[in-house]
Amino acid sequence: MKNEPGQKPRAIFATRFGAIAAIVGSSVGLGNIWRFPYEAGIHGGGAFLICYLVCVALLGIPVMCAEFAMGRGTRRNIFGAYKKLRPTGKWQLSGYIGILASFLIISFYSVVAGWTVEFCIQSAMGSIDFTGAEANHEQFLTLITGWRSVIWTVVFLIINFVVVSGGVTKGIERMANVMMPLLFLLLIAFCVNAFFMPGFNEGIAFLFKPDFSKLTPSVILGALGQAFFSLSLGLGCMMTYSSYFKEDTRLASTAATSALLDTSVAILAGIIIFPAVFSFGLSPQAGPALVFEVLPYVFSQLPGGMMWATLFFLLLFLASITSTVSMSEISISYFCDEKKLTRRKATLLSASVAFAGGLLCALSFGPLSEATLFGMTAFDLFDYTASNILLPVGGFICAIFVGWKVDRKFLANQMTNHGRHSFPLLGALRFCLRFIAPTAILLIFLNSLGLL
Ligand code: TRP
Repeated sequence: MKNEPGQKPRAIFATRFGAIAAIVGSSVGLGNIWRFPYEAGIHGGGAFLICYLVCVALLGIPVMCAEFAMGRGTRRNIFGAYKKLRPTGKWQLSGYIGILASFLIISFYSVVAGWTVEFCIQSAMGSIDFTGAEANHEQFLTLITGWRSVIWTVVFLIINFVVVSGGVTKGIERMANVMMPLLFLLLIAFCVNAFFMPGFNEGIAFLFKPDFSKLTPSVILGALGQAFFSLSLGLGCMMTYSSYFKEDTRLASTAATSALLDTSVAILAGIIIFPAVFSFGLSPQAGPALVFEVLPYVFSQLPGGMMWATLFFLLLFLASITSTVSMSEISISYFCDEKKLTRRKATLLSASVAFAGGLLCALSFGPLSEATLFGMTAFDLFDYTASNILLPVGGFICAIFVGWKVDRKFLANQMTNHGRHSFPLLGALRFCLRFIAPTAILLIFLNSLGLL
């Protein structure tokens, strides 16, 4: 690979397992365990789940393949990938959407990741409160409105950028290899535990039994946003990571495996949360607080609850790091490739922007709670703008670009590794990218804006 002056050769994930672990590491995170249950809770459970699954299969996997093809085929960041494939035209501007969205997401994400640090430490010290709905709620409120949350946001961001500065393959790949399987096992153990809860049937019915009367445009948009968020799509994250893939990595099977694992983790999280919600007579519509108020109950049911709680929040914290690392990589690889900054400078620059955004979001539960725009605090606004607007728009542009603007042979070469194996679904993938994905995203979008 050609070296840019003053830069190291582009890193490559060492093994196939490592590449999948890094992709799964990026996609599995707070999006699955914190965001999915609360979105499902707000949007009526089963109906949301069905929309979500359809979005993952019909829009998520094809767009992921498109991002992979662009990333591995060009070995560039999002901006550079568009530029290399279409030097003329304005396509590369969508790189800015990706970079902006990555900063918005990292800002609110670090705040929630900071909560996991606090809960982990509190559990380890045995001071987490298990005593009842009121106490859990109070405990959560005290945390998010206080200074500790701001401090943990900053600490989380520092850890994130230290890991990032270690580089892609060493830091990220190694961490993801060990942690992802461990998190999966722990979730399965908690699921078994959920089976014994009094609210098991009710919780499972809420999650799996669709009530189609609840299907509104905002539910469908929420499911689309959640699918893109959870699969880390729409802002060039997967594009950037796939630029570190080996030539013989199979793109379609990597996309399908990652989507399957990511979706399983979200469903496992739902199976853990909702039986507990109904067992303790809580409301599934608690929003971002849901997981943090419900999980202490789950742990209190287990022998050695504090130990489980500590381990769980530790893994959730690590899963968040592997996700924020992938978000940070978007802007860092942009600054390195396009602006020719050294990795160190690029990391510092990205970190500064992320710190500013993170502080704004952390303070939006305390001193800045009155500072709202469109009725939303910085935290909600960042989440809404990035997840429900920028990610679908980014995915839409990527689908159109690969479907219509890029040579068919380019996609074919990437999906078959230059003819080394067959990929019978090429036609279907292209059809999806040309017609289904853009139309569906557009319809959902216009519909939710009330324009349809
Ligand atoms: N997918 C991650 C999660 O579920 C979050 C994430 C990482 C992300 N990289 C992203 C979301 C890029 C959108 C785009 O927690």
